[in-house]
Amino acid sequence: MNILVTGCAGFIGSNFVYYYLRKHPERKIIGLDNLTYAGNIDNLSGLTEEEKKRFSFIKGNICDAELVEQIFNEHEIDGIINFAAESHVDRSIHDPQIFLKTNILGTQILLDAAKKHWQSESGWKCLEDSNNLAKAQSSNPANLQSCKPAKFLQISTDEVYGALGASGFFTEKTPLDPHSPYSASKASADLIVKAYHDTFGMPVNITRCSNNYGPYQFPEKLIPLMINNALNHKPLPVYGDGRQIRDWLYVEDHCKAIDFVFENGKSGEVYNIGGHNERENIYIVKKIIEILREKTGDGELNESLIKHVTDRLGHDRRYGIDPTKITQELGWKPSIMFDEGIEMTIDWYLNNSEWVESVISGEYLVFYNKNYKI
Ligand code: NAD
Ligand code: TYD
Repeated sequence: MNILVTGCAGFIGSNFVYYYLRKHPERKIIGLDNLTYAGNIDNLSGLTEEEKKRFSFIKGNICDAELVEQIFNEHEIDGIINFAAESHVDRSIHDPQIFLKTNILGTQILLDAAKKHWQSESGWKCLEDSNNLAKAQSSNPANLQSCKPAKFLQISTDEVYGALGASGFFTEKTPLDPHSPYSASKASADLIVKAYHDTFGMPVNITRCSNNYGPYQFPEKLIPLMINNALNHKPLPVYGDGRQIRDWLYVEDHCKAIDFVFENGKSGEVYNIGGHNERENIYIVKKIIEILREKTGDGELNESLIKHVTDRLGHDRRYGIDPTKITQELGWKPSIMFDEGIEMTIDWYLNNSEWVESVISGEYLVFYNKNYKI
């Protein structure tokens, strides 16, 4: 079985490649990533020799229809998991257009290539959807013999639902109400994926996960940024009052959930992913300071580094996921709670300072220095 994993060199994509190749020793991954500032192919240098044989990397853009078509022509792609995206809300506020190109148009280009290759005159190569099954059976029952599972899995985000007040949770039925250009582009992509299912009967799933943290996260997102700044005694920029709430999930638990949905998710369905680990941003920042001080014995690493800065425009106040559906239908539940996960993450960043140095360079620094004054 060959899976096309886009965005394989980013934070969640690279964690997923490790997880998936270990979990499914008979399967292969074709990784597609154009290595933006957030993508780093060295993230995958820890694959074993055997795993490397089951992983092929293609440097390229998901918006390049010719390339995507060529990948489908040259490899028997049985499924796509689309992680590739521009993913940082602050960047989307400063420069929305690339978010629309990659996140919306790129998704549609992948969908089109998959549709073309999986669709045959007698029906879908993947016959898990009952309508398609009936269609294929009536036109050519022999097709069922050669049927292989195929699926388009779109990795989306809880941010498409907008913001919550002090109570309640996002369910799969919560109306889409994105606020940032990033979340609006992800919501748009979700609707295009849904349209390919509803119009063409294409086998798809959409997952909407809460905030991830763990190894290989680019240090522009809250947790790795705070770890890196604190270690260098740089100010810790907390937006507004810091009382905004996010629901944190350790990245490996997300990878496990994606695997569950890819294997057993009912076609056309959306699955929310989250583990009820809600924390205020200011709590996270203080926790990081406390753990780092304990681990390094550095007394200068204290709360005087915290700087409350101008709030993010349109800042969503609270996110919180209700994961009942994926738990009840697919049996997934998270195994790493926040207190354990944050220690593991901090240990990883302490042991991988060279990685941090190598990724914070060039384009990232230009953007950061231009847009953030602390
Ligand atoms: P990331 O920014 O770390 O990685 C994105 C990857 O996509 C990078 O390797 C980048 O090079 C690649 N990429 C970007 N544009 C591309 C293009 N046009 N063609 C090919 N590759 C391209 O992001 P992440 O945090 O790993 O997020 C992965 C996915 O998960 C995204 O779709 C994001 O919306 C979603 N998600 C993220 C979180 C989170 O907390 N990080 C939570 C829920 C959902
Ligand atoms: P982030 O990691 O950018 O994820 P998202 O915006 O997708 O939830 O931000 C997490 C929270 O932390 C969000 O409420 C914004 C806040 N934040 C800060 O207060 N300071 C920072 O420097 C960053 C990057 C984020």
